[in-house]
Order: sequence, then structure tokens, then C-alpha cells
Amino acid sequence: MHKIAVTAFKGGTGKTTTAINFAHALAMMGRKTLLIDCDAQGSTSLAFDLNGAQGLSDLLLCDKVDIYNIRPDLYLVGSGKSDIYMVERYLAQQPESEYPLAMALNRFTGIEIIILDCSPSINVINSNILYYIDKVLLPVSMDYFALEGAALTLKIIDEVTSEMGRDIKLLGILPTFFDVRTRISKKILSNLKERYDEKVFTTAIRVNTQIKESQMNNKTIFEYAPYSNGAYDYYHFSKEALERLDR
Ligand SMILES: Nc1ncnc2c1ncn2[C@@H]1O[C@H](COP(=O)(O)OP(=O)(O)OP(=O)(O)O)[C@@H](O)[C@H]1O
Ligand SMILES: [Mg+2]
Repeated sequence: MHKIAVTAFKGGTGKTTTAINFAHALAMMGRKTLLIDCDAQGSTSLAFDLNGAQGLSDLLLCDKVDIYNIRPDLYLVGSGKSDIYMVERYLAQQPESEYPLAMALNRFTGIEIIILDCSPSINVINSNILYYIDKVLLPVSMDYFALEGAALTLKIIDEVTSEMGRDIKLLGILPTFFDVRTRISKKILSNLKERYDEKVFTTAIRVNTQIKESQMNNKTIFEYAPYSNGAYDYYHFSKEALERLDR
């Protein structure tokens, strides 16, 4: 089983969008995939119009969780109904506060790939996630702050995992919000490739308004606009990522 966190300690880099469309692409490629919304903002849950379900926070606080089969081969666990601050407090009070999430999530068996959509903050939930996952997917938007944010994210993950004695691999860095018309996009992308070489996926996700629209319509980009640049990019990225997973 592959356990992949879509993470970046920088807001708005396309984590949720990537988690949603990557998970659906994998499912369409016949891989049994579970998507877990680990962000209290609940954007992934919202994108699939999942309201009032028992999700991750309830799993941690009262051991209750609803798993929805939302598309063929695609399952979803929402962020949950319980107050996220209660979850943070609960976790912080545990004698080994980094473990509970991994223990709770270990019940999900019979799934090939688990994708976790993370919040951009450094919090107890995210450090719990590092105890569970084995791979990180880092979306980097084409702006200077995101580029620097990527370095920081990788540094933090490195430090925390070596402290924990965990082996977490970088599945790859995904360039997002690539704007073909601007020089800055090209510059940031070449800078990213210089720094991280083959870790950067060949496919970059272009800016595409249909991606935003798809989420408003509770659809993935493959359902909403299958011939759009967004669908093309997410499909090709997902194929690349799957090749890395199968290696
Ligand atoms: N390629 C794209 N083209 C156009 N809009 C996009 C693209 N990718 C994402 N968006 C939009 O940009 C916004 C931010 O994306 P998203 O929510 O995926 O980022 P995030 O990293 O999950 O944010 P947060 O850090 O708040 O969790 C959303 O409104 C989303 O619909
Ligand atoms: Mg998000």
C-alpha cells in the first residue's frame, strides 16, 4: 500500500486540487484509492459535496468514521464533524502525541493507494501524518514564495522524519499554476528543475479556470471538462506518478 501526503507548508499551492484529481485519475486507472481530507477547512469534502459525515476528526475523537465509495475504485473520508481544536487538544494530551492518527488509519486495509490532503500549517495533525505516510507529493505554485516554501517544507519533513526514525520518500515535486504566457512561470520552473532535478515531474499543471469551475460543480476535472488543459495535465502527471509508484 502506498500512503501519500499531498503537502506543502504554504497555502494555496494546489494541494487539494491535486489530491482530488490525482486520486480520481488513479481510480480511473484501476487502482483502488482512498482520499482522506486532513484539513479542517474541509475543501476536499466540499469538492465532493460531502456534508455531515463522520470523518477524520470523529475517527480520532470517538472512533467513528464513514467511508464513502464516491466513484468506481475511489473512496473518501471527510474531515469530520468534530471540532478540530478538540482534536488538536486531544492529540497534544496523548503521552505519545504523534501516534494516534497512524493507529487510527492503520485500519484502512485492502486499499492500494491512500492520498492525504494536508493543511498548510505545522500542527499536531500534520506531524501525526508524518508517522503514517511513506511518501510525500509536493505541489509548488509558480511564484517566488512557493519556491522558497518548498525548500522549507522539505527541510522540515527531513528533520522531523529523521528525528522520528521514519523513512519518507519524496514521490516528487509537482509544478502547479504554470502560466505559459509569463516569464516568471518559466523562470521559477527552470529554477525548480535546477534545484531538484529529476524529482520535478515533467508535467506541469497549467492555470486553467475550468479547474475552479469543476470544484464548484462537485466534479473532478475529468468529469467536468475532460478535454481541458487541466484534465490533460492531471492525467499525464498521474501517469508519471504511477510509474514512479510502480517502480
Ligand atoms: N491549475 C489551476 N488553475 C486555476 N485554478 C486553480 C488551479 N489549481 C487550483 N486552482 C484553484 O486555486 C485555489 C487554491 O487551490 P487549492 O485549494 O487546491 O490549494 P491548497 O494548496 O489546497 O490551498 P490551502 O493551502 O488553503 O489548503 C482553489 O480555488 C482552486 O480551485
Ligand atoms: Mg487545501
